[in-house]
Amino acid sequence: MLPKPDRTDDNRSDESGAGRGDSSAPGNGGGCPIGPATAADLPAIARLLHEAGLPQGDIAGHVGRFLVARNDAGGVVGTIGAEVTGPDALLRSLAVAPNLRQAGLGGRLMAELERVAGGWGVQRWWLLTTTAERFFAKRGFRVATRCEAPEGIRRTAQFSGGCAAAAVCLTRERRSDE
Ligand SMILES: CC(C)(COP(=O)(O)OP(=O)(O)OC[C@H]1O[C@@H](n2cnc3c(N)ncnc32)[C@H](O)[C@@H]1OP(=O)(O)O)[C@@H](O)C(=O)NCCC(=O)NCCS
Repeated sequence: MLPKPDRTDDNRSDESGAGRGDSSAPGNGGGCPIGPATAADLPAIARLLHEAGLPQGDIAGHVGRFLVARNDAGGVVGTIGAEVTGPDALLRSLAVAPNLRQAGLGGRLMAELERVAGGWGVQRWWLLTTTAERFFAKRGFRVATRCEAPEGIRRTAQFSGGCAAAAVCLTRERRSDE
């Protein structure tokens, strides 16, 4: 997950671009229900990722491991995904609609993915980021070198493709309390 450099954890733009139900008030993201994504959610997920500056070209092949948060109107206002390779998983595509950030939704998406991923056998997370290092560091991730990642993770498009050299590799063991 490699956001454009002009986006940061602290970006608090009022633009929504979250598809249906864009009228959600800022600060209400904490209560949005989170559940599995379906193929029907792909256009809305792609819009959200595009708006956040994250890659979205390959999401169709991974939607089975995506979660979405919805507003009252059913619109997708948050998303997160995983690519699972044995006990290791790439955490990817974490994005929250700009007007709903700083309300706990990103943290809830991560916690819910971790809970669901327990059933997939995930024991360790890996990710690449250019902007959200602090967000993940506060949630227990540590900086790693890319070569520490197992081969399955290094073969993902994010690790093997055109990732910015400046992207930081982060990792964390699965937490049993999530
Ligand atoms: C990264 C991102 C998903 C975080 O989403 P979010 O919904 O703002 O995340 P949270 O609200 O859970 O946490 C963000 C901060 O708000 C704080 N917060 C949470 N609930 C809060 C509340 N009720 N009131 C005030 N602050 C709150 C958290 O403490 C956190 O602060 P911290 O980062 O200093 O720990 C979001 O900024 C985003 O979409 N960024 C663009 C895409 C991106 O960079 N994705 C990551 C790619 S690796």
